[in-house]
Amino acid sequence: MPRRSGHKPINRRRAILSLGGVVLGAGIGQFATRALAESGKGANQTYPVAPEMPAGVQPTSVMLTAKARLRQLKPAPLPPNDIYDYADGDGPIVMRLKQGDWLEAKLVNEIQEHTTIHWHGIRLPVAMDGVPYLTQPPVLPGESFTYRFQPPDTGTFFFHPHCNTVEQLGHGLAGVLVVEGDETRPHDHDLVCAYRDWRIDEAGKFMPMMTTEGAAKAGTFGQHRTINDQEHPVFKVPAGGDIRIRFLNLDMARVLDLGVTGTEAWVIATDGNALPPIKLKSWRLGPAMRADLTLRAPATAGTRIQLVNYYAAQPIVMAELEAVGPVLQRPDFVPAPLKPSAIPEPQLEGAETFPLRLGASSVPADLPPDLVLPDGSVLRYADALCLTPNTFWAFNGQPWPSQSHEVLPPPLVTFQRGRTYVIELINQTPHIHPVHLHGHTFKVLSSSKGDIVPHFADTTIVAPKERVKIALVADNPGDWMIHCHIIEHQDTGMMGIFRVA
Ligand code: C2O
Ligand code: CU
Repeated sequence: MPRRSGHKPINRRRAILSLGGVVLGAGIGQFATRALAESGKGANQTYPVAPEMPAGVQPTSVMLTAKARLRQLKPAPLPPNDIYDYADGDGPIVMRLKQGDWLEAKLVNEIQEHTTIHWHGIRLPVAMDGVPYLTQPPVLPGESFTYRFQPPDTGTFFFHPHCNTVEQLGHGLAGVLVVEGDETRPHDHDLVCAYRDWRIDEAGKFMPMMTTEGAAKAGTFGQHRTINDQEHPVFKVPAGGDIRIRFLNLDMARVLDLGVTGTEAWVIATDGNALPPIKLKSWRLGPAMRADLTLRAPATAGTRIQLVNYYAAQPIVMAELEAVGPVLQRPDFVPAPLKPSAIPEPQLEGAETFPLRLGASSVPADLPPDLVLPDGSVLRYADALCLTPNTFWAFNGQPWPSQSHEVLPPPLVTFQRGRTYVIELINQTPHIHPVHLHGHTFKVLSSSKGDIVPHFADTTIVAPKERVKIALVADNPGDWMIHCHIIEHQDTGMMGIFRVA
């Protein structure tokens, strides 16, 4: 398929990559090389190595080709959109494994800038975590990288790039990973609902993914709201059947209050982690957060129920479920809990607390000025290094990149392997931040607002002025990212490293 143009930032970045070895008067090539070398992540960098897959294991193998694809996001006669995805199809790829399976996923990069895959929420060895320069080399255009790991936990997860995320994820690069094996009573139907907005205008054209205004505030929102890339889909479900909904908020900025109208529903998992069923009123999901719901479909064919977002001036129906016959005969509905995964339980007694202040950045990033290339395109140093020229946000006063962007910033904190730590997330800003930790599943303990049911998660929302305590057992050695999952916040400073040693 011929490469389609239209991704301006990508063309610009293509210039960067092809300039890598060229000596330029302005020193751009030298800068990029030096920056990588000084970061310790240059050509000679040794990255962590993953444990071998045991002999005799038959992994589930999949090829994920990141490339531009055409997808009809808005109805014809508007043209299809030039998106990125890992596979063809009508929506994001959904991969299903059984607990205990190994996954062997070969990422083939056919976009015009480097990429990687981060397996969001999976407690895997650090070498498989997919953070370029930190855990692996960036996967350059035309190159590939094979991820091999055994997800330890059941649940609803997803995966996405971890570089220039605002562009790559903004154009659609993400997939869903389900690890099955947690049901104590099988459902009749298992429905993945991946929510996201698209930054496309009335004419169906992509708009800039990032705005200064959005990055400095609540994020830049899309206009076209979809589930599984469809606007207001109607999913057919068996009438009278037990339905599991795996709801994922894959948006880069939008916070949702998920509700169901037309029947009762229960939350049975948060970020893939079982919790005793909680009757759903509405459940807040920031970017990257997931909730699994269980419900009984209406016993009359043709009847619909709605998935609603209440975090809006007027409730918005995101999708509907329509019961279709024949009607299943099931005993009275009682929500069945899921089997919990073996997440280590934090030992809170005597645990150290690490305060993490979520704040605005006062440090302007000291990047060299943009360089205008002979073809008129603009090259930003930041792009070559997954950095951004703007920093609006910081953890404990340290924006990413820190003083110098020529080195990876030192870890914000080092945790001793095997110990429990409490992290107190202190939001000093007037905006919501969904905070995500890599490599570990944590327990959300409490909030200064007093409204938290303790539960396991990999991403948790901290509201303005709120303090949220989370706890984790630091049992996965390595350097791990911690960041806000409003991608513009992540890309403008609210990101750091924590070390488990
Ligand atoms: Cu889903 Cu570092 O993120
Ligand atoms: Cu944020």
